Amino acid sequence: MQILLQPPRDEGHAWRAALASALPEAAISVWPDAPAAPDYALVWKPPAELFARARPVKAIFNLGAGVEVLLAIPALPDDVPVIRLEDAGMAAQMGEYVTLAVLRAYRELDAYVAQQRAGRWQPRLRIPKSAFGVGILGFGVLGRAVAETLAPFGFPLRAWSLSRKCAPGVESFAGRAELAPFLAASQVLVCLLPSTPETRGLLDRTAFATLPRGAHVVNVARGDIVVDEDLIAALDGGHLAGAMLDVFRVEPLPSGHPFWHHPRITLTPHASAVTLVEDAALQVAGKIRRLERGESVTGIVDRARGY
Ligand SMILES: NC(=O)c1ccc[n+]([C@@H]2O[C@H](COP(=O)([O-])OP(=O)(O)OC[C@H]3O[C@@H](n4cnc5c(N)ncnc54)[C@H](OP(=O)(O)O)[C@@H]3O)[C@@H](O)[C@H]2O)c1
Repeated sequence: MQILLQPPRDEGHAWRAALASALPEAAISVWPDAPAAPDYALVWKPPAELFARARPVKAIFNLGAGVEVLLAIPALPDDVPVIRLEDAGMAAQMGEYVTLAVLRAYRELDAYVAQQRAGRWQPRLRIPKSAFGVGILGFGVLGRAVAETLAPFGFPLRAWSLSRKCAPGVESFAGRAELAPFLAASQVLVCLLPSTPETRGLLDRTAFATLPRGAHVVNVARGDIVVDEDLIAALDGGHLAGAMLDVFRVEPLPSGHPFWHHPRITLTPHASAVTLVEDAALQVAGKIRRLERGESVTGIVDRARGY
């Protein structure tokens, strides 16, 4: 079995070692060394040239959960399944990050820090939990994991997805028609949608205005789902209280971007949930074994939907 591996920069050695250990029967070529027709290609943001030189025969594995960059490559073969990572160690990290953001907002940590700076001793009134809804945009692998992590804290949980869901303790909203009622009671809005033609620019002036006054926005999905200027306007105008952002339209975030120094924005450098090489290699190896036995696998990307 021939595998073409084109891993994230700086992770070549780790990926090769993890894959060789998980799939010792495979012959692994690391890009730019490329067999013309490998059985499988494992790629992360590949150069367009890769698919001109190598035509994977059985499947293309995307070494991350989001596939928008891969699907945008014109030379991507359309007759081979594209398979993405599912969780692979990211769900627990996402749960931690979002819980941090939600508790920081609920316990008004920023207000206490401001009071400390001003030398003020002033306990604040408790916010009733029943009035502090957490809305999760996208209820897939990561959205569900975040809901499970938040469940013990007792916030009203709601989720918005394309198709209706049935999950205990989570109110399900589906489709565009239910977006406004979903947003209207989300005191913290957590974005875990994929970047697709349908979701790009979804979080705009109208969406922010529909959130309750004083809401917080947490974007851990993709930067292009948020309209940057509209977010800044909603924060400056006082309708939104804060935003915690991990992903941006351009990464690294350009040095002159207003997000860097905005007093109501906390940002992290796309670090909320990183791919864990060993977990991911084991998942890919397990799926390759299933495919070799003629069995089905999960995580196949629906190219028409874009995720
Ligand atoms: N910041 C980071 O470090 C990081 C790490 C990993 C992933 N991510 C991002 O997180 C995203 C989500 O990952 P995942 O594994 O949870 O993906 P997933 O399992 O594919 O879940 C996607 C969810 O979004 C919903 N959705 C998609 N398009 C929609 C639309 N137009 N309207 C309403 N709902 C829509 C889907 O609805 P249905 O359930 O009805 O299909 C599904 O619930 C990835 O695409 C990636 O961009 C970021």
